[in-house]
Amino acid sequence: MALIAVLAGDGIGPEVTAAAVRVLNTLGLGLTFEEAPVGGAAYAANGHPLPPATLDLARRADAILFGAVGDPRFDTVERRLRPEQAILGLRAELGLFANLRPARLMPGLEEASALRPEVARAIDLLIVRELNGDVYFGEKGMRTTPDGRREGYDVMRYAEDEVRRIAHVGFRAAMGRQQRLCSVDKANVLETSQLWRDVVIEVAAEYRQVELSHMYVDNAAMQLVRNPGQFDVILTGNLFGDILSDQASMCVGSIGMLPSASLDAAGKGLYEPIHGSAPDIAGQGKANPCAAILSAAMLLRHSLGEAAGADRIEAAVAAALAGGARTGDLGGALSTGAMADRIIEQL
Ligand code: IPM
Ligand code: MG
Repeated sequence: MALIAVLAGDGIGPEVTAAAVRVLNTLGLGLTFEEAPVGGAAYAANGHPLPPATLDLARRADAILFGAVGDPRFDTVERRLRPEQAILGLRAELGLFANLRPARLMPGLEEASALRPEVARAIDLLIVRELNGDVYFGEKGMRTTPDGRREGYDVMRYAEDEVRRIAHVGFRAAMGRQQRLCSVDKANVLETSQLWRDVVIEVAAEYRQVELSHMYVDNAAMQLVRNPGQFDVILTGNLFGDILSDQASMCVGSIGMLPSASLDAAGKGLYEPIHGSAPDIAGQGKANPCAAILSAAMLLRHSLGEAAGADRIEAAVAAALAGGARTGDLGGALSTGAMADRIIEQL
């Protein structure tokens, strides 16, 4: 029987995660769920955002269902103890280097998209984001220069093996899709990006069927709203992927729609909505649970080999939306729980 670690976290995390667990239970796959505190909630209770017992559960579990972390009450504590360190710590400790963030327009959400309907309708892309390197994990600090100015720094760095392994993930994903991969970098300015581009070109030789293109990140941001239908797989680094995935979410209707999978080399994974803890609407039952529920579908597909269950969940979300079910972010009035009910009815 598969063990799922449920790390709900802060803000709307517990609400959307509860909805995802309800959906998983509806499928009757006999999953076992075990909860543990994480993020600001864990810091408040245990003095650390990623307590040892939580990390231990994450290691023991077959897969991790993650909510969100972030709490403005702790924005001023030292960085290593802030809620966000929990997710960064899990990604680093578990070697979850491959982040998959699919974005496609669900039928009926044309009106919710920030783009014109005919532009939005063409979106069906996958962002493959590297998750263990870049400015997120390079040397960082604050110091005072000899002439007395404060200076903050975060080193952007990638080693070639780190680029190579995420490139393979991107190309393999493209093989299973439209065989087009666009590598996004800033090679006109950054040495890190030059290495990235060189290595991606090397790896491409092993995937002759995949059509490779390169795009600077500023242009990619522009193309994503001008003509998002041109993209199949977008392969990019940690920081650019973070930014472009939030942007992609509004192109398909809402930040409340995008799920993600963060995988290690063996396919073990952590599954979370790409959105944050949304403290402004926390505890009010307003959050859209779709991203969390679609993350549960990715969990079934990537970690448990339950592709049929994943397909059923995705079809149920699409059917509920096609039937007019909408939370506030999508222009409707359903509560988190009521939206989950509408999806469960479809199962
Ligand atoms: C995300 C989030 C995280 C990130 C934060 C919470 C550290 O924005 O998963 O996209 O920057 O990766
Ligand atoms: Mg983000």
